[in-house]
Amino acid sequence: MRDLTEANVTDAVIARIGNDTPARVSEIMTALVRHAHAFAREVRLTPDELLYAARFIQRVGHISNDKREEGVLLGDVLGITSLVEAMADNARKGATESSLLGPFYRDGAPFRPNGFDISFGDATGEPAWVGGRVTDADGKPLEGVILDLWQTAPNGFYEGQVGQTMTLPDYAYRAKLRTDADGRYSLRTTKPVEYPVPIDGPVGEILICTGRHPWRPAHLHFLVLKDGYQSVQTELFNSDDQYLDSDAVFGVKASLVVDYVKNADSAVAKKRGFSGPHYETRYDFTLKRAVEVLDLAAEYRRRASISA
Ligand SMILES: [Fe+2]
Repeated sequence: MRDLTEANVTDAVIARIGNDTPARVSEIMTALVRHAHAFAREVRLTPDELLYAARFIQRVGHISNDKREEGVLLGDVLGITSLVEAMADNARKGATESSLLGPFYRDGAPFRPNGFDISFGDATGEPAWVGGRVTDADGKPLEGVILDLWQTAPNGFYEGQVGQTMTLPDYAYRAKLRTDADGRYSLRTTKPVEYPVPIDGPVGEILICTGRHPWRPAHLHFLVLKDGYQSVQTELFNSDDQYLDSDAVFGVKASLVVDYVKNADSAVAKKRGFSGPHYETRYDFTLKRAVEVLDLAAEYRRRASISA
């Protein structure tokens, strides 16, 4: 029998991964063990610190529910989400860039007609119109694209979020829209506002202990979905926000920054359903066909068979 030591324990754990383990699972678990062990060695992790980490993960689970995903927030504040999304964007160049899903997505938002007011007449914020088109990579309009979108109320809290003090209709500031035959979508809302990510949970400890502010620049979240196309989860950020360069969760990309411009044309306001001047912003999304992504493995096989 061989004693386990600092030098050989990593290999011993990796050697236990069975030969019949699916290749991707084996790849991930091998790298996870290797890097986690290297991390522990580098920081000379103590037993007390390991126990703290285990209980930290426990608390991440305990504070999570269907309206708050602390685990997602953990990945966000560590920048892992941003890294993974950046890698995914490399594989779909030409499509709208992605950003974070964030911890406050709520499944099941109802479909609404284009032009719908997702604020339900909320007078506490600044009225805004958001619209644009969804096209494919060649600029051809795409009909029937689903835009599943959500943002905070003007007080910086999402509908349903713990701490939300406003009384809001179910699924306020959330909706699903479908693009029309010309690829167009539109909605009425209030101009998004900046807000702090919640710091009352374990992830807040990371921010507080490392002297980081919890603020996110004002944004509107989108999931853009169509069969046969690569879906995109993204956010549109207000160009006038003070936190654009220091987003607590590293979600901002230059291509996702939009201007909210005041529109004082009373005829336009009437047509859109506003009683007066309002902000407006436009954004066009681009989706790429699912098959347009270069599958490197398939490409290798194709080239290998041609040259054989
Ligand atoms: Fe958000």
